[in-house]
Amino acid sequence: MSLKNFQLADFFEQGERFVNSGLKRLLPPSSTKPKKLHEAIRYSIFAGGKRLRPLLCLAAAEACRGTWERALPLACAVECIHTYSLIHDDLPAMDDDDLRRGKPTNHKVYGEAMAILAGDALQTCAFEMTAGCEATARYGHQAFVQELARAAGSRQLVAGQAADLEAEGEALSRSELQFIHERKTSALLRCSVRLGGMSADCPPRELDALTEFGSRVGLAFQVIDDILDVTQSTETLGKTAGKDESSQKATYPSVVGLEPSQAIARRLTDAAFKALGAFPKRRVIALRSLAEHLLERDR
Ligand code: IPE
Ligand code: IPE
Ligand code: MG
Ligand code: MG
Ligand code: MG
Repeated sequence: MSLKNFQLADFFEQGERFVNSGLKRLLPPSSTKPKKLHEAIRYSIFAGGKRLRPLLCLAAAEACRGTWERALPLACAVECIHTYSLIHDDLPAMDDDDLRRGKPTNHKVYGEAMAILAGDALQTCAFEMTAGCEATARYGHQAFVQELARAAGSRQLVAGQAADLEAEGEALSRSELQFIHERKTSALLRCSVRLGGMSADCPPRELDALTEFGSRVGLAFQVIDDILDVTQSTETLGKTAGKDESSQKATYPSVVGLEPSQAIARRLTDAAFKALGAFPKRRVIALRSLAEHLLERDR
């Protein structure tokens, strides 16, 4: 999209439409057998998520002079990993939540077994989409697949989820908490911007800048998620508010307090902006506006 006269609302609207059309096309139709499984997959994917990871992927591609078209399979792939992680995160054995994206959680509608399988399937769909992207001069398919596998795997996203569960009811230090948040959430946001840059065949210097930007924004994102759990209503969030306290989760507000958490998120966002100094200003308007929006969001 044109970076002149940039409006975040237009970026959101056009980006969301673009990503949704990609997901509709790339995922198996809901008529695919077994129908219940494919309905369960589409139920959560199209339940009304904010699509922040795919939007970050598209914005990063723009920052590196790429196109939305080339970034699309990767944008869809990160949304599939994210949605699978939410379906599993909500299971009774994990956070045990009834509400997600303003609707009953996947297992409440389709049962636990089908929810587990819908998550499993979304994860492999993500790799199928990634393998279907266009390789570039610098980055072959191996690089794209490896990038997503590392972010989603047992050293990053799954590590964070496991450590998050182990930390329930424990008194954590700030650095232990940061370890969890960097893995369960920041890793996939960082991966989203890196994949966007890679789809545009970005040079190493730009990839380093996107890595720094994504790490900072990613951590800020989870700090804000923790804050919103305390400050917002269930209706606004579309998921049960106050859940972290009742589950004795390790969160930024519980470990450092609410106001210091807000200050930390602001500082992380400013550090993310600084990383964008590696790019001409006009190319990173979308990334910058997204990062500011993530900080100010109410859900
Ligand atoms: C929620 O992510 C889970 C976290 C990692 C904090 P989002 O707030 O992006 O959820 P959706 O995709 O909009 O539902
Ligand atoms: C979720 O963190 C992180 C992942 C799903 C990988 P949370 O458990 O805080 O997310 P919400 O608050 O349920 O969305
Ligand atoms: Mg969780
Ligand atoms: Mg949760
Ligand atoms: Mg949360």
